[in-house]
Amino acid sequence: MDMDKLVSLCKRRGFLFQSSEIYGGLNGFWDYGPLGVELKRNIKEAWWQDMVRGHDELGVPAGAPEAYEMTGLDCTIIMHPQVWKVSGHYDLFCDMMVDCKETKKRYRFDQLRGRWVTAKGKRIFVTTLAEAEQEAEDLEKRALKAFNLRGKDAESLEWEGASMSLDKVDDLASVFAPEAKEIGTLTEPREFNLMFKTIVGAMGTEEDAAFLRPETAQGIFVNFKNVLDSTRVKVPFGIAQIGKSFRNEITPRNFTFRSREFEQMEIEFFCNPKDSRKWYEYWRDRRMKWYTDLGLAGERLVMREHAADELSHYSVGTADIEYAFPFLPEGEFGELEGIAHRGDFDLRSHMEGKLVKNAEGCLEVEMVPVEGKPDKLRPKHRGSGRDLTYRDEVTNEKFVPHVIEPSSGADRATLAFLCEAYYEDQQPDENGELQTRVVMRFHPRIAPIKAAVFPLVKKDGMPEIAQDIYRKLKAKFSAFYDEKGAVGRRYRRQDEAGTPYCITVDGQTLTDGTVTIRDRDTLEQWRVKVDEVVEEISKRVM
Ligand code: GAP
Repeated sequence: MDMDKLVSLCKRRGFLFQSSEIYGGLNGFWDYGPLGVELKRNIKEAWWQDMVRGHDELGVPAGAPEAYEMTGLDCTIIMHPQVWKVSGHYDLFCDMMVDCKETKKRYRFDQLRGRWVTAKGKRIFVTTLAEAEQEAEDLEKRALKAFNLRGKDAESLEWEGASMSLDKVDDLASVFAPEAKEIGTLTEPREFNLMFKTIVGAMGTEEDAAFLRPETAQGIFVNFKNVLDSTRVKVPFGIAQIGKSFRNEITPRNFTFRSREFEQMEIEFFCNPKDSRKWYEYWRDRRMKWYTDLGLAGERLVMREHAADELSHYSVGTADIEYAFPFLPEGEFGELEGIAHRGDFDLRSHMEGKLVKNAEGCLEVEMVPVEGKPDKLRPKHRGSGRDLTYRDEVTNEKFVPHVIEPSSGADRATLAFLCEAYYEDQQPDENGELQTRVVMRFHPRIAPIKAAVFPLVKKDGMPEIAQDIYRKLKAKFSAFYDEKGAVGRRYRRQDEAGTPYCITVDGQTLTDGTVTIRDRDTLEQWRVKVDEVVEEISKRVM
C-alpha cells in the first residue's frame, strides 16, 4: 500500500488534517476531520465496550484464570508534580538528543545510524536516519569499500579514531546517497526530558511548574485506594482509562504514529502477585485478539516478547503488539500496544518514594545525601506515605497487588485500521469501463458511517422515502443521505469513506415497497422491505 495515497485520501475525505494548517501547521499535532472523529470514537468505544462496560464479571472469560471485575476512571491531565518525580518520569523519561551544528536540526540519537569519524582533527558524525533502512554495519562496509580500506578487518578498524582527508569526507554524501538524509557535525548526545512543562496559578514561579501527563497510567495508580474504598471491587480487578497524553517528541514522524499530543487507552489490572504471570499471559492474548477481531489480521500484526535487556526499569515482562505500517521498511513493525507486567513497582513507589534497582536487582527507595550533611541520606523523591496494600477478605492475606498493564494508543490503532482498510480494485463505471475504485474496508463496528441512503432520482417521491429511512437509521447510528449526482459516483464516495452499506430507493420501491442494499466489499445487492431496513442494517453493523 502506498502511504502517500492514504495520506492524501485522509486529507481529501476529512479523516485527518494537520493541526493549525492555515498557519503552516504544527509539527507533531493532528486534527481529526468529520470522518476521522467518527472512526477514532468508534475505536475508543469498541475498546471501552469490550474491555469495560460489556465485561461480564460473573463469568470466567475465555482464557482467564478466574472471573474478574473492570471499572473506569477519567483523571486530570495535570497532576501533582510529585506524581512524576515518584514514577520516575521526572528523572528518567528522556531521549538522547543531538543537534546538527550546521542545519540546527534536532535528532533522537537512537534514530541515527552511523559512526563518529575524525577528519583533519574535525569530529563529525556520518549518519543516515534509521528510517532510511540502513544498518550501521552495512554503512561501515560501504564506507570501507569507498575509501579503499577493503581488505582491512572491519571489526578491528577503530572508527571513532579513523582519520581521513576532508575532501573524502565531502565524498561521503555521494557514497551514502540516496540513503543519507543528513550529514553534518553533531553536538554530543544529551538528555532531553519529554514531558511538557507548564505553570499552574498566577505566580508563574518555577515552584508552580507542573507537567502535562505523558501517560494516563499514573492517574489510575494514585486513585487505586479511592476506587477500592468507593466501590466493592476485589482483586483481581482492572481500572481502565482513555485520555490524552503529551510527549515533547524530538522527531515526531510518520503521520500520526509519533505525535506530541495523542490519546491512550490503558488498563491497570491489579492481581495477587502469585497469579500475575497467568494474568500477564491472559491480557497479552486477549489484547491481540481484540485487534484481530476488528480486522487487523494476517502477517501484518505480530506479538513480540521483549528480551530481558529491553524491559523498562519496572517491568519483569513485556510484549508488544506490532503492526507492519506501510511507511516502515519491509519486514519492520511499529508498536501499537505494550502489555507490561509491572510488578508492584507503581503502587510501592507511590507509597514509599521513587524506586531504583539495587546491586542485587531488587527495588529500593533511591536515597541521596541531605544538603549540608553528606553522611546522612534522604529519599530522592518521597512517596505519598499512604497505605496502598490490599487485604484479601477471604484469606486475610495482605499484599501490594501486582499490575499487568495493557497500554495502547488510540491514534496508532486508528492509523493501523486506516492502513489496513485501504484497498484498490477495478470496477466498471456507468459506461462499463474499468476504473480504479478506492475502498476503505473498515470493520462495520468502526466504520465512520454505517449506512448511506440514496434516492435513485430526485422525483416521484423517492427522496421522501429515502429521507424517512435515513432518519430512522440516524436515530441508531451514523448514517448519510445523498441525492446529488449519478448513483455510481455516490457509491464511490461512500466506498472511500468506508461505509459498509448503501441503500437505494428506486422505481421498484414505489411498486413493491422494497429497496436495494449494496455491500461495500462484495458489491452484492439484495432487496429488503422498507420497514425492515433498520433491523437488517443494525444486525450487520453492531
Ligand atoms: N503506561 C505505559 C506507556 O505509556 P508506552 O509504550 O510509552 O507505555 C503506550 O505508550 C502506547 O501509547 C504505545 O504503544 C503507543 O500506541 C502510544 N504512544 C506512545 N507514544 C506515542 C506518540 N508519541 N504518538 C502516538 N502514540 C503514542
